[in-house]
Amino acid sequence: MRIVVIGSTGQLGTDLIKTLEDGHEVIGLTHSDIEVSDYDSCLVLKEYKPDVIVNTAAFHKTDQCEEEPLKAFAVNTLGARNVALISKELGATTVFISTDYVFDGTKKEPYTEEDIPAPISTYGISKLAAEHFTHQNPKHYILRIASVFGKAGASGKGGNFVETMINKAKKNEPIMVVDDMWMSPTYTKDTASLLKRIMESALPFGVYHATNKGYCSWYEFAKEIFQITGLNPELKPIKTDPNYGPATRPRFSALKSIKLPKYGMEPRKWQEALRAYLTEKGHMQKSSL
Ligand SMILES: NC(=O)c1ccc[n+]([C@@H]2O[C@H](COP(=O)([O-])OP(=O)(O)OC[C@H]3O[C@@H](n4cnc5c(N)ncnc54)[C@H](OP(=O)(O)O)[C@@H]3O)[C@@H](O)[C@H]2O)c1
Repeated sequence: MRIVVIGSTGQLGTDLIKTLEDGHEVIGLTHSDIEVSDYDSCLVLKEYKPDVIVNTAAFHKTDQCEEEPLKAFAVNTLGARNVALISKELGATTVFISTDYVFDGTKKEPYTEEDIPAPISTYGISKLAAEHFTHQNPKHYILRIASVFGKAGASGKGGNFVETMINKAKKNEPIMVVDDMWMSPTYTKDTASLLKRIMESALPFGVYHATNKGYCSWYEFAKEIFQITGLNPELKPIKTDPNYGPATRPRFSALKSIKLPKYGMEPRKWQEALRAYLTEKGHMQKSSL
């Protein structure tokens, strides 16, 4: 397949390029190559005559999306619409990367592909609207992921949660992390491999939950990072501050796929993925290996 990846220097984009290059012709487009919110700029996609267009571009700073809703909808929603319309015209498959934030977080067990989204933030609303526009191309895969960590780090956020924890620990800073907000961590390498298998196996088009298996609170996630690396900072659980930032975040946004296991595509547990990531990044102390 000839596959265009939009957002090729991002956290997920970087791993998608590396993974998909094994067996496919891959063209990576950076933000300077394409502006997804601008339809004319998206016409560049036609030059490559792709079979698949993967759109990882997003404005995903959740609090800033509340302050800049026009930008959130321009990049996330109209961007997805532009990509879907052009893919459809080309007869190409659209892959859109979505989020656990399309859910409101009131469920007590992991959300599956059958649950009805009900976003509670501008970011979540803009991504759900993007999912709807993506449906305009019947040939589409929507992969929902969450709490992403990957070698490249989020270009929009300058790192990721794992790196933030390790940096704080190395500076001997006391660390406080919320223990009343739960999610399913996602290793970008695993999402990239999963998407490759989904496309190569020509799975039915539609929505797939593509996080790692299981879920945890952010506190438990931090604890596991330190347990695996052997770092031993002062780590305290705290409660979510209701006045933290302008965006409302779902309390419980764990995801689970009920579709992928039917095709023998079960992602590995988040703890195993985290260990693989920490090894890849060289964060493991010799005694932990
Ligand atoms: N990060 C998370 O925790 C998380 C959680 C759930 C879902 N997601 C979703 O997963 C996807 C990938 O996330 P990520 O962490 O890999 O993000 P990322 O590291 O910020 O990568 C996004 C890439 O898209 C590019 N980009 C941004 N705005 C663009 C625009 N208007 N037009 C064209 N390119 C643009 C960025 O380039 P520049 O940096 O040069 O602007 C960057 O290379 C996103 O769709 C996001 O919504 C992420």
